[in-house]
Amino acid sequence: MCGIVAYVGDEKAGPILFDTLKRLEYRGYDSAGVAVRCDDQIEVLKAAGRISDLEKSYLERGSPGDRMGIGHTRWATHGRPSDENAHPHTSGGIAVVHNGIIENYLALRERLTDLGFAFQSETDSEVLAHLINYYYQGDLARAVAKAASEVEGSYAIAVMSADSPSIVCARKDSPLVIGLGEGSCYVASDIPALLPYTRDVVRLKDGDFAVLEGGKVHVQDISGAPRELESERIEWDVNAAERGGYPHFMLKEIHEQPRAIQETITGRISEVEGDVRLDLGMTSWDMQTLQRVSIVACGTSYHAGLVARYFFPRAAGLPVDVEVASEFQYMQLRPGTLLVGISQSGETADTLVSLKKARTCGVRSLAVTNMVGSTITDIVDTSIYTRCGPEIGVAATKTFTSQLAALLLLGIRLGRGRNHLLADQGRKMLAEFSRLPGLVQSVLEKRDQIREIAKTFAHQGSYFFIGRDFLYPIALEGALKMKEIAYIPAEGYAGGELKHGPLALIKDGTPVVALATCGRKIQSNIKEVRARGAEVIALATEGDPDMAKIASMVVELPATRPVFSTVLCTVALQLLAYYTADELGCEIDKPRNLAKSVTVE
Ligand code: F6R
Repeated sequence: MCGIVAYVGDEKAGPILFDTLKRLEYRGYDSAGVAVRCDDQIEVLKAAGRISDLEKSYLERGSPGDRMGIGHTRWATHGRPSDENAHPHTSGGIAVVHNGIIENYLALRERLTDLGFAFQSETDSEVLAHLINYYYQGDLARAVAKAASEVEGSYAIAVMSADSPSIVCARKDSPLVIGLGEGSCYVASDIPALLPYTRDVVRLKDGDFAVLEGGKVHVQDISGAPRELESERIEWDVNAAERGGYPHFMLKEIHEQPRAIQETITGRISEVEGDVRLDLGMTSWDMQTLQRVSIVACGTSYHAGLVARYFFPRAAGLPVDVEVASEFQYMQLRPGTLLVGISQSGETADTLVSLKKARTCGVRSLAVTNMVGSTITDIVDTSIYTRCGPEIGVAATKTFTSQLAALLLLGIRLGRGRNHLLADQGRKMLAEFSRLPGLVQSVLEKRDQIREIAKTFAHQGSYFFIGRDFLYPIALEGALKMKEIAYIPAEGYAGGELKHGPLALIKDGTPVVALATCGRKIQSNIKEVRARGAEVIALATEGDPDMAKIASMVVELPATRPVFSTVLCTVALQLLAYYTADELGCEIDKPRNLAKSVTVE
């Protein structure tokens, strides 16, 4: 997730671009850049690092007369944060900022290289600058439309040319909003950035192109037909707007999950081949001779690893062990192992120390992380990026479900690479995988029911979460979320383990959340706790005929394969923890004693 902005009007462009970019920093902040047009020249200023540092350089340089420009704040997905990889990207007199992922960039890059274009960066976005330059013959909108027609993937772009007084924007599967001012037009990835300037906005639709010139905006749809401007007036206050109108970043990030999971899987699924496109840096032989996978991680990331422990043996015929990273130093690492470290921040000290063992023991290592260029990526042989954008709330939400998505992709790739999973099995699995973002959206729509449940039990003083199979790790994750943001003692247990001790804690009214979308055996565990007076909140598959008879209340989730229901149950449990914490007046985005990144052992 990155942020893009643009401005055309009567005022000086640079200060407006920097101000709007800073308001989009929550979308990414590893590098930034602007391009402004002065005297038919485009001046580009871009660098790795924070926007405020770049702004200082702009102010020192001074760009008299700039009245239009584009800007970008980056969250790396292709290529590490660096000056070269920062946007805008340029080609001839063309400058482009891009948010999204160009899936066919390798093919386009090869073609453009053959045509003589020289690439300066490792990004997928740079192909857009060269492609538009290639088609540009004085009509910028036409060149952008031609280039866009050749691009597969998602994009929100703003483009300018040294010899044109207009800025052209376009979008497909990435957000873009135009702000309408007096003699000025503004563009941003999100509404909050525009609110200090205007409250009248036009949300571009997929396939739309907009031409901004002299304070006027013309929009055309995907067929090229002019579209009437449908502007709306935004009434939110500016503080809430930073969180996209949500009261907390955590709630915003919970709601971003359909998009985040889509970003994780975009360009990586080939339903035709029934396979996953992930470069693991391993040959078929490497995969076939692999003996086992060891996973190290902490906290929520550890729970993602536990889901892989259930999935990889089935998908890839590989045994898996999972260890909390702080304990891994006491374990043996066997030859023939692939050591996988999972860390959203890529900076967790215990995980980094564990992964270093791979080099000393001569085994291959791989990281699943959300941070391109983080320390973890320097330690391992290969990295898989979850690409879900920065997470501001301390409690991991969208980074966790994106880790699950990335690990499922990894399991399928290993399964196909080892010929354990047949093409047809892969196809069916991936067809269901593609539905996952939509299914997550349906779970989010259960928020009112979950909020009521949260209010009912917020003052009970303890919680149990039970699950079996794929859902046991999710029971652990549900309990962790409840502990860390609502400060309620919560236990996560494998359903079958309750009777070996913890059942003694169950009494009248104890809330037990039963994750019941994976197999029927959990039903006997529900009956066990009901018989001791527990109130059971079951997460069950829509239309389950039994659950209403045995549970106290049922949250129905859409039907899917058990492995994908891990994600659906997670989202419901995040909402439960969130609304409980809200009911109790906890400080949700910054829970006491916790930090987003734990860089000490
Ligand atoms: C819980 C949470 C932590 C992290 C853990 C590992 O919501 O966020 O438990 O999961 O500190 O962090 P990373 O994934 O950055 O290594």
